[in-house]
Amino acid sequence: MRVIVLDDAIQISNEAAEIIIKQVNKKRDSVIGFATGASPVETYKRIIESYEKGEVTLKHITTFNLDEYVGLDRENVNSYYYFMKDNLFGKTDVDFEKVNFLSGQIDNIDEECARYSAKIRESGGIDIQILGIGTNGHIGFNEPSDNFADGPFAVKLTQSTIDANSKYFEAVGDKMPEYALTMGIGDIMRAKRIILIATGKSKAEAIKKLVEGEVTPACPASILKLHADVTVFVDKDSASLLGDR
Ligand code: F6R
Repeated sequence: MRVIVLDDAIQISNEAAEIIIKQVNKKRDSVIGFATGASPVETYKRIIESYEKGEVTLKHITTFNLDEYVGLDRENVNSYYYFMKDNLFGKTDVDFEKVNFLSGQIDNIDEECARYSAKIRESGGIDIQILGIGTNGHIGFNEPSDNFADGPFAVKLTQSTIDANSKYFEAVGDKMPEYALTMGIGDIMRAKRIILIATGKSKAEAIKKLVEGEVTPACPASILKLHADVTVFVDKDSASLLGDR
């Protein structure tokens, strides 16, 4: 696992976007795993800028997002589908036919999770997976637990995640859902390459556990240490609790 400490989110976004753009320019039908949340937003802006300058086309990529809230339809401003449309896909030439999401609006969760697993497999696997990290060490919505999940599953969100994300729902007078569907740790670990982005003091504890702690499902991100190709981009604040390296 490479840990790269940079000054701020702008520097991180330049580096992270370059990796993704290079990947897509090398293999135009790359399979990219996307994350939502604040962490990758600047990176997505850099990709949009490159697209606008004609430096990259996203027309041929296949996308898989990590997670979706249960109960939200795609047009809900707080759905992750809407987030991706608003922050990246809708501002580039991404082909929405090749956009894959776990659906938060289904009757049969097991069928939906099996469908998503099969789709990832059929795509040939994820070339690059982008991740953020929760203050509690979650990746995707794999919350601290006593085991690592392999494939997609439904999860009850922890109070820490609800505390971190309920502001987005309160802003539009809604209550945050308590459940989400998420890719499992196995799905994330099967990606060929992983980029994790973390900024701000609130992530410092989780980054310390990820980089210096043991591999344990109590800090789901810690398993990334066992992956052969992970780059962790951190700013000075999120790296502030790391010992000398
Ligand atoms: C989002 C996701 C989450 C976030 C994490 C950090 O799709 O899977 O794991 O990456 O909660 O969120 P931010 O970036 O908003 O701090």
